[in-house]
Amino acid sequence: MTHRLRAGMVGGGAGANIGVAHRYAMRLDDRYELVAGVFGRDAIAALAFARDLGLDEQRIYADYEQMAESETRRPDGVEVVVVATPNDSHFAIAKAFLEHGVSVLCEKPLTTDSASAAELVRIAQAHGAVLAVAHVYSAYAMVRQAARMVRDGEIGNVRFIDVEHASGWASTLLESTGHKQASWRTDPAVGGRLSVVADLGTHAHHLARYVTGLEVRAVSAQLDTLVPGRQIFDNATVQLRWSGDVPGRLWASMAAAGHSHGLRLRVFGDRGNVEWSHQDPDQLIVQDLECRTTILSQGVPSLATDSRRLDRVGLGHAEGFIEAFANLYGDVADELLARRERRPSTIRELSFPTGVDGLKGLEFIEAVGVSGGAGGAWVSLGEVGEEAT
Ligand SMILES: NC(=O)c1ccc[n+]([C@@H]2O[C@H](COP(=O)([O-])OP(=O)(O)OC[C@H]3O[C@@H](n4cnc5c(N)ncnc54)[C@H](O)[C@@H]3O)[C@@H](O)[C@H]2O)c1
Repeated sequence: MTHRLRAGMVGGGAGANIGVAHRYAMRLDDRYELVAGVFGRDAIAALAFARDLGLDEQRIYADYEQMAESETRRPDGVEVVVVATPNDSHFAIAKAFLEHGVSVLCEKPLTTDSASAAELVRIAQAHGAVLAVAHVYSAYAMVRQAARMVRDGEIGNVRFIDVEHASGWASTLLESTGHKQASWRTDPAVGGRLSVVADLGTHAHHLARYVTGLEVRAVSAQLDTLVPGRQIFDNATVQLRWSGDVPGRLWASMAAAGHSHGLRLRVFGDRGNVEWSHQDPDQLIVQDLECRTTILSQGVPSLATDSRRLDRVGLGHAEGFIEAFANLYGDVADELLARRERRPSTIRELSFPTGVDGLKGLEFIEAVGVSGGAGGAWVSLGEVGEEAT
């Protein structure tokens, strides 16, 4: 298929968590072909892993610098690279490809600080490359429906936003057991002291921004370590002031014992509210002033085009995480192909998260850190990057 995009991957090797979801998502709509990569830091294990994926041996690399150099010299080099490594390496890897004009789909958080995130945004713009960030939850069909309804005023003027990503995945001292993902996420040098905000808080922050179209203007945060012996904050309770002076709250936790994934958004307007939960992702709960409750289901023909265009199997057939990832990949593919064929941009109002969204996530993390360190004092966020959206 000539339209397939030539993709590379850094990270996502044997035993890795999220890399496999990226590979499924690439294949689901058959718009990408994985042709090159660095599948881990252990070169021998990475080679064996890539062979199993069926990659050409010439295009299995020992490190991302070698990959960037070699791939950009090839006439059939990669057009987009997925960065699925731990957070502290995102910047260097993304930069190496963006500087060569290769687009990047980077895992979140985009980098470890706002200055480097802003630098990636600048580099991508200067080299005409797409920089996307894998805040995958905004690619669920019913999140797109919520966004369309809220942005079109169907619940009236937004009055309050309540969002939480309160997961229970690390409710015990998992890092002491050698658990791969817990080990780096609870290491302040890799995941940062604010790891729970970077890991889960940024998803909640992005979800609320995406659905409402509002921006966080100020935060007052309380940071806690709920699991004794842990080296990072594993729980953040944040009060928010959104644009338009809309109040809200955000709870990010990796120690909400008994919760599986724990992502939920509620937006209250002056005419009702919408609620979306990752637990039942193909539903959107809508309530009006009379407390009448309507449950909208994915695939219903009367839903907004933004939602309907993401259906694959139709009403009554559940779609989930892999499909949401594929929706994100689909939006990115539309734009990459438009650029390849020199057509106008395909980026819609409700499209994929960009580097600017990643940058805003970093600004949010930093503001939460400052506020938490100052006993919950209100800290304002700048309007950096908004002109570039
Ligand atoms: N979007 C989401 O929903 C979502 C979900 C989970 C994780 N993530 C993000 O994905 C990233 C990876 O998380 P994970 O849980 O998959 O981690 P992981 O530890 O399971 O996997 C990381 C992989 O990267 C490899 N790696 C590390 N440094 C490398 C380097 N320099 N070059 C090549 N490979 C390297 C490791 O060997 C491993 O294969 C993180 O940034 C995380 O925040 C996002």
